[in-house]
Amino acid sequence: MEGGNYIKEGSDSAKSTCIFFSPKENDGVGTLFRYLELFMQNRVNIIHIESRSSARFHNRYEFMMECAPGGNLEAVIDCLRQKSAYFSIISRNHKNNRGTVPWFPRRIRELDRFANQILSYGAELDSDHPGFTDKKYRERRKYFADLAYHYKHGEPLPRVDYSKEEIETWGKVFSELIKLYPTHACREHNHVFTLLIENCDYRADNIPQLEDVSNFLKDSTGFTLRPVAGLLSSRDFLAGLAFRVFHSTQYIRHPSKPLYTPEPDVCHELLGHAPLLADPEFAQFSQEIGLASLGAPDDYIEKIATCYWFTVEYGLCRQDGKLKACGAGLLSSYGELQYCLSDKPQLKPFDPPVTALQKYPITEYQPIYFIAESFEDAKEKMIKYAQTIPRPFDVRYNPYTQSVEVLDSKQQVQELLQQTNNEINFLANVLKKI
Ligand SMILES: [Fe+2]
Repeated sequence: MEGGNYIKEGSDSAKSTCIFFSPKENDGVGTLFRYLELFMQNRVNIIHIESRSSARFHNRYEFMMECAPGGNLEAVIDCLRQKSAYFSIISRNHKNNRGTVPWFPRRIRELDRFANQILSYGAELDSDHPGFTDKKYRERRKYFADLAYHYKHGEPLPRVDYSKEEIETWGKVFSELIKLYPTHACREHNHVFTLLIENCDYRADNIPQLEDVSNFLKDSTGFTLRPVAGLLSSRDFLAGLAFRVFHSTQYIRHPSKPLYTPEPDVCHELLGHAPLLADPEFAQFSQEIGLASLGAPDDYIEKIATCYWFTVEYGLCRQDGKLKACGAGLLSSYGELQYCLSDKPQLKPFDPPVTALQKYPITEYQPIYFIAESFEDAKEKMIKYAQTIPRPFDVRYNPYTQSVEVLDSKQQVQELLQQTNNEINFLANVLKKI
């Protein structure tokens, strides 16, 4: 184990509990074995074990044990709490375990766990869905849902042969929207849109492939797309953003109503979301929303999701004294894109503590929009708001390891301060040269 990681993969469980702990200083050889005995005595099944050098104490180890439900887990937790120099616990089942932080992914590949945590599978349509009675369409939706369900992190995104009918539907949406973009979309969207035409085959007679768009985003801001089989919970969807991963649908809306869709489809993702995810400021803002959500209590998840709704989905911004659309829900809707800049809706400044409490309809045009002065300003406000979320730690994304670091000790902060200091010295030297 010296200086390295040992990871044992096991089967996954939605109800598992992850325990993180560091033995006390005087523990020596055979420590892990003694702890494992504790799990065995209490009949707790371990489905995943990791050991690594502790980020909190020099020359000590930290263990992560993912436990399946069952056995006397309470007894294990009580004992470990007393025996450990560091102890924390995260669980999907956090409501039943006091003192437990809601589970969140620490590594980018842990996003794979969301694949089977969807609230409704993509092939299930409501009775008022335009494709409800269309057997062929429902089969097609199942095909897309299955593609996403079997996707694993690191694989290329599935390429799809879209049918002639599907391409025609895309073409109708694309042709209408591009007429409005020059006057209604924010300048960042318009800037990236021409690049997407050049680089990712955005055309009226071609539905771009997620893989191509994802690669383009990766080069621009490090964002990537990930196919999703159905509706994710807000907690899971927002967690993806913390890793600069955007969960995206790949199917297209029903051909009977090309300018309407009751749910996100590939037009919404590629025309609405993709352009702004390639903008560095907007990407940073989106990631801040994701980071704020990790381990947050349920009521705060709802508030953060509401801020997301009124910015990434339905946000307006002011540019050169004029209002422009920057939300994907607006940029992918021919009707609402015109309505949102008319004198009909009510407008308010984006202010997270206020915005987070605003109720909204999901099946009709928004009666209220919030205006961001700039992406930078919205990001600063969101960071400030995140500091009010009650959680006993902070999180930081490490792009080298594509993992989330949980900051809850002075040593970690001191090391980061040292790194920041080196960075500042480096930049100060660069300034002297230029
Ligand atoms: Fe969306």
